[in-house]
Formats: sequence, structure tokens, C-alpha cells
Amino acid sequence: MNFKKYENKHRNRVIISVLVFTFIIYNYFVYSSGTENHAPKLTEEAIKGQDLWQENNCWTCHQLYGLGGYLGPDLTNIISHPNKGENYIKGFINSGVKSMPKYNFTETEKDQIIAFLRAVDQTGYFPNYKANLQPNGWVELNYKSADSISHPSNK
Ligand code: HEC
Repeated sequence: MNFKKYENKHRNRVIISVLVFTFIIYNYFVYSSGTENHAPKLTEEAIKGQDLWQENNCWTCHQLYGLGGYLGPDLTNIISHPNKGENYIKGFINSGVKSMPKYNFTETEKDQIIAFLRAVDQTGYFPNYKANLQPNGWVELNYKSADSISHPSNK
């Protein structure tokens, strides 16, 4: 009699342990799937450009991905803009226009800012997607890095 009671107790413990274990594994997969960081890493040159971007307060007047100050325009895709790009950006940095100060950067520093802006351009559109109207009247969102970065609503 006592022995049987012991057996039941033991069996319950095994069942509860299995359930708790399964619950932990299940939660691990549910809460960690799709959270991998696919963002491309910045090169050393681009990181220096990002430092210059921050130290010289470009962000107080310009936006990247729509975030920042609004005295100047958004620069997310300026590198791939058909009429703008590298020399155009350097020209603005050299001259300063309107409220934008003239910056006395070295060529190396200008190239670092360009490298940073190139990395930004590769990771997004601003607005952050292109919407293509489908024949059925719905839109399909096309993200810039759809090939390398999987986005749930892009499937
Ligand atoms: C005090 C505000 C201010 C700061 C700080 C500033 N800018 Fe500007 N920027 C402007 C304004 C204003 C314009 C011109 C917009 C216009 O023509 O209407 C501009 C234009 C530009 C353009 C040309 C954009 C285009 O599409 O024609 C580039 C590139 C640029 N800035 C880069 C920079 C960088 C890089 C920095 C930091 C090193 C910086 N700016 C700092 C205000 C600023």
C-alpha cells in the first residue's frame, strides 16, 4: 500500500518534469524564432563616418530612415539617387548651404561619411519600402534588403 503510494508520487513527478521541460523548450522556440539580427555590420570606415555624422550634428538637421532634424532633407538614399551621389555630397560638405555650416573635413573624413551613407542606403528606403500596386487592388511592400533581410510582412 505504502509502496504503491510512493510509485504514484514518483510517476507524477516524472510527468510534471516532462511537462515543465517541454514548456521551456517550446517557449524558447516561440520567443526566439525570427529574432536573429540580420542587419549588415558596418565596416570600420563606415563606423568612423557614423562617428563624424554624430559628432558634427548632421542628424540635428538631416534624417536617416526618416528620423532626425528637419532643417535639411532626409539622406537615407542620397548615395543611390540618380543625380546626386558621392561628389554631390562632398560638394555640400565643402560649401555649406543656407543654414548648413561649411565643414573643413579631410578627404579621408569625407570618404568615411560617404561610406556610412552608402551603408545606410543599402539597408533601407525612405519611405522605408516601395509599395507596388497589384492587379487585385492590394499593395505589396518591397523592402530594400528583401533578399538578405527576411521581413515577416514581406512574404
Ligand atoms: C544646421 C543644419 C544642418 C547641419 C548641421 C547639416 N546640414 Fe546638410 N543641409 C542642411 C540644409 C538646410 C540643406 C539644404 C537643403 C535645401 O537646399 O533646401 C542641406 C543639404 C545637405 C545635402 C544635400 C542634400 C540634397 O539632397 O540635396 C547633403 C548631402 C548634406 N546636407 C549633408 C550634410 C552632412 C554630411 C552633415 C554633417 C557633416 C550636414 N549636412 C549637416 C542643413 C544642415
